[in-house]
Amino acid sequence: MNTTELESTVRAMTARGKGLLAADESSGTIKKRFDTIGLESTETNRRDYRQMLFTTDALEQAVSGVILFDETIRQSTDDGRTLTSILQGKGIVPGIKVDKGTIAMGPGSAEKVTEGHDGLAKRYEEYYQLGARFAKWRAVYTISDQLPSWRNIRLNAQGLARYAAITQQSGLVPIVEPEVLMDGAHTLERCEDVTTAVLNAVFEALALEGVQLELMVLKPNMVISGKDCPVQASAEQVAAATVRCFSRTVPAAVPGIMFLSGGQSDAQATENLNAINALSAHHPWTFSFSYGRALQAPALKAWGGKKENVAAGQQALAKRARLNGAACRAEYQAAMEQAA
Ligand code: 13P
Repeated sequence: MNTTELESTVRAMTARGKGLLAADESSGTIKKRFDTIGLESTETNRRDYRQMLFTTDALEQAVSGVILFDETIRQSTDDGRTLTSILQGKGIVPGIKVDKGTIAMGPGSAEKVTEGHDGLAKRYEEYYQLGARFAKWRAVYTISDQLPSWRNIRLNAQGLARYAAITQQSGLVPIVEPEVLMDGAHTLERCEDVTTAVLNAVFEALALEGVQLELMVLKPNMVISGKDCPVQASAEQVAAATVRCFSRTVPAAVPGIMFLSGGQSDAQATENLNAINALSAHHPWTFSFSYGRALQAPALKAWGGKKENVAAGQQALAKRARLNGAACRAEYQAAMEQAA
């Protein structure tokens, strides 16, 4: 393992005032996103969309890294430059999603485990050549009155930890993503309990695998009310519960906690991140973003799949990136949403 390279990658990823753009939607997920603008999900349309995102002017001012999907890391722009070289040219670190999605934990189970360990070290040899310097693996947990089961929490923790160990041994920085889903009517308190149990299991498994905590990034959910909970917690309540949960479970050696947006609206994800940073000046981690939908949704809408709207799409992305960058410094204000 080249520790020096991993250290500089992790430092670049967690640079103050910056976060990650998650643009690693699988073919199935990007189709769902394109359906919302009535665009067919062809390889060319997917390439055009990602080209628009990555060529956004000054993106690097608030984006330190981009998570790519296997297809995208191999694609090139209209003028023949690879999409990764566009990012590298801006000083943005390319990363790669390596999990192969989720399957039912057992016959008839509502719970899921994540696949993709087979051949992973071999796949990294190619991804490294293609420019990837970090990777991502996502595990998902469903909240209900009975779930998640202890078995699901343990199996997903083992899977994340095995992946993280292979990733570091292959010379890339692992993003460890345990996502407690916001689907359901559960309270903020229930989300905090489940997230605490999940993170305790994840860090126990990471220790067992000998993963170097200094050389990884955690990508968790925020502690928030379930989507259908009648009482929605305020940003200040979310921040207090989130920071308390992480203080109790995440070792200080972890350099960065970069949240997923998970279905929050774009403004809500920014407001919550800002409130977390407003609370957490004395904590050891960088609290930042690794958003997919909350960065991309307005850009996708403004673009609408049309060449003449590329500039509008880029403006929408640049704005969300800028506002989330401000939230990393606790400098975001709702009034900034009105400015261009
Ligand atoms: P969202 O921010 O849309 O949840 O996506 C982040 C991600 O990478 C999910 O794996």
